[in-house]
Amino acid sequence: DEPSPIAAALLDWYDRHHRRLPWRVGPADARAGLRADPYRVWLSEIMLQQTTVQAVKPYFERFTARWPTVAALATAPTDDIMKAWAGLGYYSRARNLKTCAELVVERHGGRFPDDLEGLKALPGIGDYTAAAIAAIAFDRPAAVVDGNVERVVTRLCAIATPVPAAKPEIRARVQALLPVDRPGDFAQATMDLGATICTPRRPACPLCPISHGCEAFSDGTQETFPVKAPK
Ligand code: ADE
Repeated sequence: DEPSPIAAALLDWYDRHHRRLPWRVGPADARAGLRADPYRVWLSEIMLQQTTVQAVKPYFERFTARWPTVAALATAPTDDIMKAWAGLGYYSRARNLKTCAELVVERHGGRFPDDLEGLKALPGIGDYTAAAIAAIAFDRPAAVVDGNVERVVTRLCAIATPVPAAKPEIRARVQALLPVDRPGDFAQATMDLGATICTPRRPACPLCPISHGCEAFSDGTQETFPVKAPK
């Protein structure tokens, strides 16, 4: 059950360079058995769809100060939630928020389910968000694939199939790399690498902990991935 050399190098980098984010439990605490609150992981992941980390931070702080639990959010007036959301955009996310919170209370006694099926049955939670909650809050070996992860993995494996057709291949690669003992940190490490080093333009490959295993880097073709289908 040793992690792959790629996963080990990525986790080692994450231990040293992880971003400190308000919804996150840092790697030292995570290794000591602490887990992020599923409610906070869920709320942050919904906010982070279509919105940057920097923009989300103050909203996340205000929401969790005002509604510290999913049960509190479930009883909040819709109007208050919509007002607190104002500025984040994509308002269907805010409308789904209350419905989802109510269902977590009604169906699950106020605790988020810890498996992909249960999570995906909730409104506003699709493949990506279910995997993120399962991995980050429950340390389940779920493949978490967002745009950052797609870029990291298509470069690492020089996946020539255009996105989104390459999705199943990307997911399979992530699944194969997953370290069984730290799937939550692995998901967040991959996201951090994509956000800070394996960037769309001019990636900082000399600083990358996994460039030694990266096919695109060895070919000098980093910026050609992910391949986009012609429109
Ligand atoms: N973007 C989406 N989810 C994220 C997370 N958990 N950490 C950092 N960036 C993210």
